[in-house]
Amino acid sequence: MNKLVDLLGIRVPIIQGGMGNISNAPLTAAVSNAGGLGTIGAGTMLPDEVEEIIKETKKLTNKPFAINIALSVSPYVKEVLSLVVKYKISTVSLSAGNPSPYIPKLKEHGVNVICVVASPKQAVKAEKAGADIIVAEGYEAAGINSNLETTTFALIPQIAESVTVPIAAAGGIADGKGLAAALALGASGVQMGTRLIATKEAPVHEAYKNTIVTADDKGTVIVGRTVGRVRRVLRTPYAEYLLQKEAEGISLEEFNSLTTENQHKFGALEGKLQEGFLNGGQISSLITTIPSVKELFENIIHEAKSELQRATHLI
Ligand SMILES: Cc1cc2nc3c(=O)[nH]c(=O)nc-3n(C[C@H](O)[C@H](O)[C@H](O)COP(=O)(O)O)c2cc1C
Repeated sequence: MNKLVDLLGIRVPIIQGGMGNISNAPLTAAVSNAGGLGTIGAGTMLPDEVEEIIKETKKLTNKPFAINIALSVSPYVKEVLSLVVKYKISTVSLSAGNPSPYIPKLKEHGVNVICVVASPKQAVKAEKAGADIIVAEGYEAAGINSNLETTTFALIPQIAESVTVPIAAAGGIADGKGLAAALALGASGVQMGTRLIATKEAPVHEAYKNTIVTADDKGTVIVGRTVGRVRRVLRTPYAEYLLQKEAEGISLEEFNSLTTENQHKFGALEGKLQEGFLNGGQISSLITTIPSVKELFENIIHEAKSELQRATHLI
Protein backbone atom coordinates (compact mmCIF):
# COMPACT_ATOMS: atom_id res chain seq x y z
CA MET A 1 0.00 0.00 0.00
CA ASN A 2 1.63 3.22 -1.14
CA LYS A 3 -0.70 6.24 -1.32
CA LEU A 4 1.66 8.18 -3.60
CA VAL A 5 1.86 5.36 -6.13
CA ASP A 6 -1.92 4.75 -6.01
CA LEU A 7 -2.79 8.42 -6.41
CA LEU A 8 -0.49 8.93 -9.37
CA GLY A 9 -1.44 5.61 -11.00
CA ILE A 10 2.20 4.54 -11.26
CA ARG A 11 4.09 1.35 -10.39
CA VAL A 12 7.38 2.51 -8.88
CA PRO A 13 7.61 5.45 -6.43
CA ILE A 14 9.85 7.61 -8.61
CA ILE A 15 8.86 10.99 -10.03
CA GLN A 16 10.84 12.67 -12.78
CA GLY A 17 11.62 16.18 -11.55
CA GLY A 18 10.46 18.97 -13.81
CA MET A 19 13.35 19.98 -16.05
CA GLY A 20 12.29 23.10 -17.86
CA ASN A 21 12.95 23.19 -21.62
CA ILE A 22 14.81 19.87 -21.34
CA SER A 23 12.54 16.97 -20.46
CA ASN A 24 11.00 16.20 -23.83
CA ALA A 25 8.53 13.52 -24.95
CA PRO A 26 10.97 10.56 -25.28
CA LEU A 27 12.43 11.08 -21.77
CA THR A 28 9.03 11.73 -20.18
CA ALA A 29 7.56 8.65 -21.85
CA ALA A 30 10.60 6.53 -20.92
CA VAL A 31 10.08 7.38 -17.24
CA SER A 32 6.36 6.63 -17.39
CA ASN A 33 6.88 3.41 -19.36
CA ALA A 34 9.44 2.30 -16.76
CA GLY A 35 6.74 2.65 -14.09
CA GLY A 36 7.50 6.11 -12.69
CA LEU A 37 5.83 9.46 -13.29
CA GLY A 38 7.35 11.15 -16.33
CA THR A 39 7.22 14.95 -16.27
CA ILE A 40 7.32 17.49 -19.07
CA GLY A 41 9.17 20.60 -17.88
CA ALA A 42 7.30 23.59 -19.29
CA GLY A 43 10.13 25.98 -18.40
CA THR A 44 9.83 29.06 -20.60
CA MET A 45 8.48 27.19 -23.61
CA LEU A 46 5.72 28.70 -25.72
CA PRO A 47 2.32 27.06 -25.19
CA ASP A 48 2.47 25.67 -28.77
CA GLU A 49 5.77 23.96 -27.98
CA VAL A 50 4.36 22.44 -24.79
CA GLU A 51 1.30 21.26 -26.74
CA GLU A 52 3.50 19.50 -29.30
CA ILE A 53 5.39 17.68 -26.53
CA ILE A 54 2.11 16.63 -24.88
CA LYS A 55 0.84 15.18 -28.18
CA GLU A 56 4.12 13.36 -28.82
CA THR A 57 4.28 12.00 -25.26
CA LYS A 58 0.75 10.64 -25.61
CA LYS A 59 1.89 8.77 -28.73
CA LEU A 60 4.84 7.25 -26.86
CA THR A 61 3.06 6.15 -23.68
CA ASN A 62 -0.41 5.32 -22.45
CA LYS A 63 0.77 5.69 -18.85
CA PRO A 64 0.16 8.80 -16.71
CA PHE A 65 2.61 11.69 -16.89
CA ALA A 66 2.80 15.19 -15.42
CA ILE A 67 3.63 18.73 -16.45
CA ASN A 68 5.84 20.90 -14.24
CA ILE A 69 5.41 24.64 -14.18
CA ALA A 70 8.06 26.66 -12.37
CA LEU A 71 5.74 29.52 -11.49
CA SER A 72 8.31 32.30 -11.25
CA VAL A 73 9.99 31.18 -14.47
CA SER A 74 7.15 30.42 -16.90
CA PRO A 75 5.66 33.40 -18.74
CA TYR A 76 2.68 31.21 -19.74
CA VAL A 77 1.31 29.70 -16.53
CA LYS A 78 -2.38 30.15 -17.46
CA GLU A 79 -1.90 28.91 -21.02
CA VAL A 80 -0.05 25.77 -19.89
CA LEU A 81 -2.73 25.08 -17.27
CA SER A 82 -5.36 25.31 -20.01
CA LEU A 83 -3.43 22.65 -21.95
CA VAL A 84 -3.47 20.44 -18.85
CA VAL A 85 -7.26 20.59 -18.82
CA LYS A 86 -7.61 20.28 -22.61
CA TYR A 87 -5.43 17.15 -22.78
CA LYS A 88 -6.69 15.70 -19.48
CA ILE A 89 -3.17 15.51 -18.03
CA SER A 90 -3.56 13.63 -14.75
CA THR A 91 -0.96 15.50 -12.66
CA VAL A 92 0.60 18.95 -12.48
CA SER A 93 3.65 19.86 -10.46
CA LEU A 94 4.00 23.46 -9.33
CA SER A 95 7.32 24.84 -8.13
CA ALA A 96 9.35 28.03 -7.62
CA GLY A 97 6.46 30.22 -6.52
CA ASN A 98 3.18 30.34 -4.59
CA PRO A 99 0.94 27.53 -5.89
CA SER A 100 -2.18 28.45 -3.86
CA PRO A 101 -4.02 30.56 -6.49
CA TYR A 102 -3.82 27.77 -9.08
CA ILE A 103 -4.85 24.73 -7.05
CA PRO A 104 -8.67 25.14 -6.73
CA LYS A 105 -9.26 25.18 -10.50
CA LEU A 106 -7.01 22.17 -11.03
CA LYS A 107 -8.88 20.26 -8.33
CA GLU A 108 -12.22 21.17 -10.01
CA HIS A 109 -10.92 19.34 -13.07
CA GLY A 110 -9.76 16.34 -11.05
CA VAL A 111 -6.05 17.02 -11.65
CA ASN A 112 -3.55 15.77 -9.03
CA VAL A 113 -1.44 18.63 -7.75
CA ILE A 114 2.15 18.15 -6.64
CA CYS A 115 3.74 21.13 -4.87
CA VAL A 116 7.51 21.39 -4.59
CA VAL A 117 8.55 22.96 -1.28
CA ALA A 118 11.69 23.57 0.76
CA SER A 119 10.32 24.00 4.28
CA PRO A 120 7.64 22.60 6.63
CA LYS A 121 5.92 26.00 6.55
CA GLN A 122 5.59 25.93 2.76
CA ALA A 123 4.40 22.30 2.97
CA VAL A 124 1.62 23.13 5.43
CA LYS A 125 0.52 26.06 3.27
CA ALA A 126 0.45 23.89 0.14
CA GLU A 127 -1.53 21.15 1.87
CA LYS A 128 -4.07 23.68 3.14
CA ALA A 129 -4.41 25.04 -0.40
CA GLY A 130 -5.27 21.51 -1.61
CA ALA A 131 -1.99 19.91 -2.71
CA ASP A 132 -2.27 16.13 -3.10
CA ILE A 133 1.45 15.41 -2.89
CA ILE A 134 4.34 17.37 -1.46
CA VAL A 135 7.76 17.13 -3.04
CA ALA A 136 10.23 18.14 -0.35
CA GLU A 137 13.35 19.40 -2.06
CA GLY A 138 16.61 19.75 -0.17
CA TYR A 139 19.54 22.04 -0.79
CA GLU A 140 21.49 19.24 -2.49
CA ALA A 141 19.21 19.46 -5.51
CA ALA A 142 20.03 20.71 -8.98
CA GLY A 143 18.65 23.94 -10.30
CA ILE A 144 16.79 26.82 -8.67
CA ASN A 145 17.09 26.25 -4.97
CA SER A 146 15.77 27.61 -1.72
CA ASN A 147 17.85 30.15 0.17
CA LEU A 148 16.76 28.31 3.33
CA GLU A 149 19.53 25.77 2.66
CA THR A 150 17.83 22.88 4.50
CA THR A 151 19.18 19.54 3.34
CA THR A 152 17.00 16.61 2.29
CA PHE A 153 17.93 14.46 5.30
CA ALA A 154 16.77 17.18 7.72
CA LEU A 155 13.81 18.31 5.63
CA ILE A 156 11.91 15.05 5.04
CA PRO A 157 11.17 14.05 8.64
CA GLN A 158 10.15 17.62 9.51
CA ILE A 159 7.73 17.75 6.60
CA ALA A 160 6.48 14.22 7.33
CA GLU A 161 5.48 15.46 10.80
CA SER A 162 3.80 18.56 9.39
CA VAL A 163 1.45 17.22 6.69
CA THR A 164 -0.77 14.19 6.10
CA VAL A 165 -0.52 13.98 2.29
CA PRO A 166 2.15 11.72 0.77
CA ILE A 167 5.65 13.13 0.38
CA ALA A 168 8.32 12.54 -2.24
CA ALA A 169 11.90 13.40 -1.31
CA ALA A 170 13.99 15.35 -3.82
CA GLY A 171 17.63 16.35 -3.78
CA GLY A 172 20.56 13.98 -3.54
CA ILE A 173 18.83 10.76 -4.60
CA ALA A 174 20.29 8.64 -7.39
CA ASP A 175 20.14 5.01 -6.28
CA GLY A 176 18.31 2.42 -4.21
CA LYS A 177 20.08 3.44 -1.01
CA GLY A 178 18.73 6.96 -1.47
CA LEU A 179 15.22 5.65 -2.07
CA ALA A 180 15.44 3.39 1.01
CA ALA A 181 16.65 6.30 3.15
CA ALA A 182 13.86 8.56 1.89
CA LEU A 183 11.25 5.93 2.76
CA ALA A 184 12.78 5.47 6.22
CA LEU A 185 12.61 9.23 6.81
CA GLY A 186 8.87 9.30 6.13
CA ALA A 187 8.59 9.85 2.38
CA SER A 188 6.51 7.59 0.13
CA GLY A 189 8.75 8.05 -2.87
CA VAL A 190 11.41 10.18 -4.50
CA GLN A 191 11.80 12.78 -7.20
CA MET A 192 15.02 12.76 -9.22
CA GLY A 193 16.58 15.26 -11.62
CA THR A 194 20.34 14.90 -11.95
CA ARG A 195 20.28 11.07 -12.14
CA LEU A 196 17.83 11.23 -15.06
CA ILE A 197 20.07 13.60 -17.03
CA ALA A 198 22.74 10.88 -17.04
CA THR A 199 20.55 8.35 -18.86
CA LYS A 200 20.52 7.14 -22.44
CA GLU A 201 17.17 8.83 -23.13
CA ALA A 202 18.02 12.28 -21.75
CA PRO A 203 17.97 14.71 -24.69
CA VAL A 204 21.10 16.60 -23.67
CA HIS A 205 24.58 16.97 -25.15
CA GLU A 206 27.09 14.21 -24.27
CA ALA A 207 29.27 16.87 -22.61
CA TYR A 208 26.52 17.42 -20.02
CA LYS A 209 26.20 13.70 -19.21
CA ASN A 210 30.00 13.37 -19.06
CA THR A 211 30.29 16.33 -16.68
CA ILE A 212 27.93 14.50 -14.31
CA VAL A 213 29.63 11.11 -14.52
CA THR A 214 33.08 12.61 -14.00
CA ALA A 215 32.07 15.03 -11.23
CA ASP A 216 33.72 14.62 -7.85
CA ASP A 217 32.54 15.87 -4.47
CA LYS A 218 33.45 19.43 -5.47
CA GLY A 219 31.56 19.02 -8.73
CA THR A 220 28.69 21.40 -8.02
CA VAL A 221 28.49 24.95 -6.81
CA ILE A 222 25.83 27.43 -5.77
CA VAL A 223 25.65 30.48 -8.00
CA GLY A 224 23.50 33.55 -7.43
CA ARG A 225 23.78 33.69 -3.66
CA THR A 226 25.00 37.31 -3.77
CA VAL A 227 21.86 38.40 -5.66
CA GLY A 228 19.37 36.18 -3.82
CA ARG A 229 18.88 33.80 -6.78
CA VAL A 230 20.21 30.52 -5.47
CA ARG A 231 20.88 27.88 -8.12
CA ARG A 232 22.95 24.70 -7.92
CA VAL A 233 24.96 24.03 -11.06
CA LEU A 234 27.80 21.81 -12.17
CA ARG A 235 31.24 23.38 -11.72
CA THR A 236 31.95 24.20 -15.37
CA PRO A 237 33.88 27.10 -16.91
CA TYR A 238 30.60 29.00 -17.17
CA ALA A 239 29.86 28.46 -13.45
CA GLU A 240 33.34 29.78 -12.63
CA TYR A 241 32.63 32.79 -14.85
CA LEU A 242 29.37 33.46 -12.95
CA LEU A 243 31.18 33.21 -9.62
CA GLN A 244 33.83 35.62 -10.89
CA LYS A 245 31.12 38.09 -11.94
CA GLU A 246 29.53 37.76 -8.49
CA ALA A 247 32.87 38.41 -6.81
CA GLU A 248 33.09 41.61 -8.86
CA GLY A 249 29.61 42.67 -7.69
CA ILE A 250 27.02 41.69 -10.32
CA SER A 251 23.47 43.14 -10.30
CA LEU A 252 20.41 40.88 -10.11
CA GLU A 253 19.43 42.03 -13.58
CA GLU A 254 22.77 41.07 -15.08
CA PHE A 255 22.82 37.75 -13.20
CA ASN A 256 19.34 36.94 -14.56
CA SER A 257 20.46 37.74 -18.09
CA LEU A 258 23.40 35.34 -17.69
CA THR A 259 21.24 32.50 -16.33
CA THR A 260 18.27 32.55 -18.72
CA GLU A 261 16.90 29.33 -20.21
CA ASN A 262 18.88 30.26 -23.33
CA GLN A 263 22.13 30.04 -21.40
CA HIS A 264 20.92 26.70 -20.05
CA LYS A 265 20.27 25.47 -23.58
CA PHE A 266 23.77 26.39 -24.74
CA GLY A 267 25.25 24.29 -21.96
CA ALA A 268 22.78 21.46 -21.77
CA LEU A 269 21.71 20.93 -25.34
CA GLU A 270 24.63 22.27 -27.33
CA GLY A 271 27.44 21.37 -24.94
CA LYS A 272 28.98 24.84 -25.12
CA LEU A 273 30.39 24.72 -21.63
CA GLN A 274 31.95 28.19 -21.94
CA GLU A 275 28.60 29.74 -22.86
CA GLY A 276 25.92 28.15 -20.70
CA PHE A 277 25.35 26.70 -17.26
CA LEU A 278 24.36 23.12 -16.41
CA ASN A 279 21.96 22.43 -13.55
CA GLY A 280 23.40 19.63 -11.43
CA GLY A 281 22.95 18.28 -7.92
CA GLN A 282 25.46 17.24 -5.27
CA ILE A 283 24.69 13.59 -5.98
CA SER A 284 26.52 13.93 -9.32
CA SER A 285 29.69 12.58 -7.73
CA LEU A 286 27.91 9.26 -7.03
CA ILE A 287 26.78 8.90 -10.64
CA THR A 288 29.23 7.05 -12.88
CA THR A 289 27.06 5.32 -15.48
CA ILE A 290 24.64 6.23 -18.25
CA PRO A 291 21.97 3.52 -18.18
CA SER A 292 18.55 3.46 -19.83
CA VAL A 293 15.73 4.70 -17.60
CA LYS A 294 14.32 1.17 -17.43
CA GLU A 295 17.65 -0.33 -16.28
CA LEU A 296 18.06 2.50 -13.79
CA PHE A 297 14.66 2.01 -12.17
CA GLU A 298 15.06 -1.78 -12.00
CA ASN A 299 18.40 -1.33 -10.20
CA ILE A 300 17.02 1.30 -7.85
CA ILE A 301 14.04 -0.82 -6.78
CA HIS A 302 16.17 -3.95 -6.39
CA GLU A 303 18.80 -2.10 -4.34
CA ALA A 304 16.23 -0.27 -2.17
CA LYS A 305 14.59 -3.57 -1.22
CA SER A 306 17.87 -5.22 -0.28
CA GLU A 307 19.09 -2.13 1.62
CA LEU A 308 15.89 -2.00 3.67
CA GLN A 309 16.31 -5.70 4.50
CA ARG A 310 19.98 -5.23 5.39
CA ALA A 311 19.09 -2.33 7.67
CA THR A 312 16.69 -4.43 9.75
CA HIS A 313 19.67 -6.60 10.77
CA LEU A 314 21.55 -3.58 12.10
CA ILE A 315 19.19 -2.74 14.92
C1 LIG B 1 18.42 20.06 -15.83
C2 LIG B 1 17.51 20.33 -14.67
C3 LIG B 1 16.49 21.26 -14.84
C4 LIG B 1 15.62 21.51 -13.78
N1 LIG B 1 14.56 22.36 -14.00
C5 LIG B 1 13.57 22.42 -13.08
C6 LIG B 1 12.32 23.07 -13.39
O1 LIG B 1 12.11 23.59 -14.49
N2 LIG B 1 11.36 23.07 -12.44
C7 LIG B 1 11.55 22.47 -11.19
O2 LIG B 1 10.65 22.49 -10.37
N3 LIG B 1 12.72 21.85 -10.89
C8 LIG B 1 13.69 21.79 -11.81
N4 LIG B 1 14.83 21.06 -11.53
C9 LIG B 1 14.92 20.32 -10.25
C10 LIG B 1 14.35 18.89 -10.41
O3 LIG B 1 12.99 18.91 -10.75
C11 LIG B 1 14.50 18.04 -9.13
O4 LIG B 1 13.63 18.44 -8.11
C12 LIG B 1 15.93 18.05 -8.61
O5 LIG B 1 16.83 17.86 -9.67
C13 LIG B 1 16.10 16.94 -7.57
O6 LIG B 1 17.40 16.92 -7.06
P1 LIG B 1 18.60 16.03 -7.72
O7 LIG B 1 19.09 16.85 -8.86
O8 LIG B 1 19.57 15.87 -6.62
O9 LIG B 1 17.98 14.73 -8.17
C14 LIG B 1 15.77 20.83 -12.56
C15 LIG B 1 16.81 19.91 -12.40
C16 LIG B 1 17.68 19.64 -13.45
C17 LIG B 1 18.76 18.62 -13.27
